[in-house]
Amino acid sequence: MKRVKVGLWLWALVLFMGLCTTISSAAFLENRHRRKSTHPVPGTSSFELNRVGSSVVFPIHGNVYPIGFYNVTLNIGQPPKPYFLDPDTGSDLTWLQCDAPCVQCTETPHPLYRPSNDLVGCRDPLCIALHLPGTPKCDNPEQCDYEVEYADGGSSLGVLVKDAFYFNSTKGDQLKPRLALGCGYDQVPGSSHPLPLDGVLGLGRGKTSIVSQLHSQGLMRNVVGHCLSGRGGGFLFFGDNVYDSSRVDWTPMSSDYLKHYSPGSAELRFDGKPTGLKNLLTVFDSGSSYTYLTSQAYQTLTFLIKRELPRKVLREATDDQTLPLCWKGKRPFKRVSDVRKYFKPLALDFTTGGKTKTYELPPEAYLIVSSKGNVCLGILNGSEIGLQNSNIIGDISMQDKMVIYDNEKQMIGWASANCDKLPKTSSFSIGW
Ligand SMILES: *[C@@H]1O[C@H](CO)[C@@H](O)[C@H](O)[C@H]1NC(C)=O
Ligand SMILES: *[C@@H]1O[C@H](CO)[C@@H](O)[C@H](O)[C@H]1NC(C)=O
Ligand SMILES: *[C@@H]1O[C@H](CO)[C@@H](O)[C@H](O)[C@H]1NC(C)=O
Repeated sequence: MKRVKVGLWLWALVLFMGLCTTISSAAFLENRHRRKSTHPVPGTSSFELNRVGSSVVFPIHGNVYPIGFYNVTLNIGQPPKPYFLDPDTGSDLTWLQCDAPCVQCTETPHPLYRPSNDLVGCRDPLCIALHLPGTPKCDNPEQCDYEVEYADGGSSLGVLVKDAFYFNSTKGDQLKPRLALGCGYDQVPGSSHPLPLDGVLGLGRGKTSIVSQLHSQGLMRNVVGHCLSGRGGGFLFFGDNVYDSSRVDWTPMSSDYLKHYSPGSAELRFDGKPTGLKNLLTVFDSGSSYTYLTSQAYQTLTFLIKRELPRKVLREATDDQTLPLCWKGKRPFKRVSDVRKYFKPLALDFTTGGKTKTYELPPEAYLIVSSKGNVCLGILNGSEIGLQNSNIIGDISMQDKMVIYDNEKQMIGWASANCDKLPKTSSFSIGW
């Protein structure tokens, strides 16, 4: 197996424990036991609250290659301090590396977060939601302990606290809600190298996600979206007034797969033609840099791609370790547009209730040009990282699109967009 750099926070598995001891006690670590939960977490409840049509937009920094991850800056605490967080639609909990004190932290760009003394109690609905489908043990009712574990083996252990978050809304007012976040004082880095970040911004479907909390305080609709530019950067948004819904292709979120943003099963087309690959259970995950297919789909797709490549122009570059499959040209390539004519477009068709919505994957959505000037396939074999039945649409395949997760309507939408420009006002609509 070749070494592949993947997004650290790929597809989170959430493991929570009911142990409740004091934050810094060493006894806590001796006592801790790990209990895996594999059952799905129910989606967010859809209270009808006083809806204020506000949104928040954050610039995103980073790219798929060579940086390999994205970050957004959030201002948290009193007084507010900036933190760089990895936006992850594959997990719910937002946490910061935390001086509680820290037992094990990775290198951070900012000083460790000093937790507020406003602890979330063990019987708080947010603590209960975090432990679903289990229940917190509550030895200490004053404290909610958590542990999150990610698909690459990385994890964070900590306690839930409440603190002030500072957001500038698109309407021009400043929001200062108190929201629950994890004070992570024991982090294990995953198989991908530790990211030089302060924490993770959990944007998943659960109640603890920041957007769900903003929604339950009546501040905005429970909608998250992102627009990643193919040139790097882009933006992330909360709320629903940064896009024109009528220009978005919407498809229902799968109810079989409540833990993640999944539009259900897809059929893969290659150059417009059917591949015979059907029932591909698909998940959108901004925490993954690359796209992953099940072993069988990966095998079929690589066969089809290789069969179409002109052998005189491109030959396999086995000396390039950037990704498992790279091709060399006569001269080094500079960008994907230099080679796009040799590759075919892919498409995923999602059908529900007789209606089909297509997610297009032009060559730019699955290729990178490595530092050696070779072109590499950004679609990888999911079996190699332990994924069995799911196919993950990672950042590479979400570039130059607005991808929107509406947790109230339980719909996922996408639309081609220019992600280089930040939407400034509520009158912003998607540029074609
Ligand atoms: C995170 O984004 C900021 C800009 O908002 C940038 O200055 C910083 O270098 C980025 N951090 C990393 C680790 O890429
Ligand atoms: C919010 O707006 C204020 C006033 O315009 C500005 O000083 C501050 O930096 C902004 N904060 C963020 C997080 O953008
Ligand atoms: C995908 O990875 C699995 C596990 O490493 C391996 O057994 C399988 O042969 C791979 N499939 C392809 C098509 O390379």
